[in-house]
Amino acid sequence: MLNFELYNPVKLVFGKGEIEKVSTLIPKESKILVAYGGGSIFKNGIYDQVKKALEGFNVVEFGGIEANPYFETLMKAVEIIREQKIDFILAVGGGSVIDGVKFISAAAKFEGDPIDILHKRIIFKEGADVVPFGTVLTLPATGSEMNSGSVVSIKATQEKRDFGGSAMFPKFSICDPTVIASLPKRQLQNGVIDAYVHVLEQYLTYPHEGFLQDRIAESILQTLVEIGPKVVENPTDYALASNFMWSCTMALNGLIQKGVPSDWATHMIGHELTALYNIDHARTLAIIGPNLYRVLFETKKEKLAQYGKRVFQLTGTDEEIAREAIGATVAFYHTMGMKTKISENASNIENTADFIVNRFEERGWKALGERQNITLEKLREIVELSY
Ligand code: NZQ
Ligand code: ZN
Repeated sequence: MLNFELYNPVKLVFGKGEIEKVSTLIPKESKILVAYGGGSIFKNGIYDQVKKALEGFNVVEFGGIEANPYFETLMKAVEIIREQKIDFILAVGGGSVIDGVKFISAAAKFEGDPIDILHKRIIFKEGADVVPFGTVLTLPATGSEMNSGSVVSIKATQEKRDFGGSAMFPKFSICDPTVIASLPKRQLQNGVIDAYVHVLEQYLTYPHEGFLQDRIAESILQTLVEIGPKVVENPTDYALASNFMWSCTMALNGLIQKGVPSDWATHMIGHELTALYNIDHARTLAIIGPNLYRVLFETKKEKLAQYGKRVFQLTGTDEEIAREAIGATVAFYHTMGMKTKISENASNIENTADFIVNRFEERGWKALGERQNITLEKLREIVELSY
């Protein structure tokens, strides 16, 4: 096992009816910015719950953070924080609102040009350099409620970039599984698949000595395979909703990546498909992942075989199981409503591979993956296979 440090200071408050506890988690004298998305919280009663819990607090609101949040939108909130001397931010939303709030928190006290946070991928380590924030999660998927990463899009240049650091953990996150009742089917499907691929990014690498990490990863995958199709049909079933929400948090709160190699190339390539064609984040992963495993088959086949045996109970030679595991993964994605080709999700896609290869070349991203063996040639192959 590789050496590691585990640090996760997020106070996670999980369960039905827990949103009211928000009042006990924010310092009483705070001036709070409540940040949210396009308005779903007004229709499903979450806004009312938060508003009631924050009675007596000094609250300013900022709405309109879009899916795949734009730098340009978030900078408007940064101005409000600075002008109104806000000292706590509450994100009420899914990954986009939470990631947006992480950016707002970092940019508000940043002394340079805030775009550099994204372009230079600045790491924030000091609590004093950011505005503290908490979250009320409304969409299980990203794990952003319990991690220190953030992904922000830049409208002007059609880019999607990430940043983070240990100061970017939420102070707390309230995860009430009943919030998923109002999610459209498409978002429930996305949530399951995003979490699933988060696990695969940290698991489908090469054999190592992190036996426990592998078993935890496999248990999250098995849980998602078991409950994924059901929760889409029955989002009001509390057993399904709570296991779905907890699986998503566990998939990307840092635990399963400790002591083991990780990949993340599917995400890096997938982000370009969202930036170019506005394809939902999870759907980009369902397109790219399987083709990445095909192109990298020789170096991933041992873990693919282990995955096939333990998660899908496949039998045969290791080589056969490894290949079938990719097929079983695609079949699961189809069951979950994913369309696994770029052309099924966007049009005029002929130049996609050229565009992404050029972009990665400009950024110096020429050796991705757990073995740094995803060259620009392999990248092209993966994207072209995905057409
Ligand atoms: O904006 P509103 O009106 O609230 O509607 C949202 C949005 O349209 C809606 N929604 C959220 N909760 C709802 C609801 N509708 C009804 N009922 C509810 N309870 O769902 C839509 C999608 O929301 P969004 O926040 O965009 O989805 P998700 O949580 O999947 O977040 C995706 C973003 O997170 C980033 C992605 O790249 C993408 O930008 N990621 C962040 C990560 C991280 N910080 O660790 C890791 C991930 O890999 C991912 O990259
Ligand atoms: Zn993701």
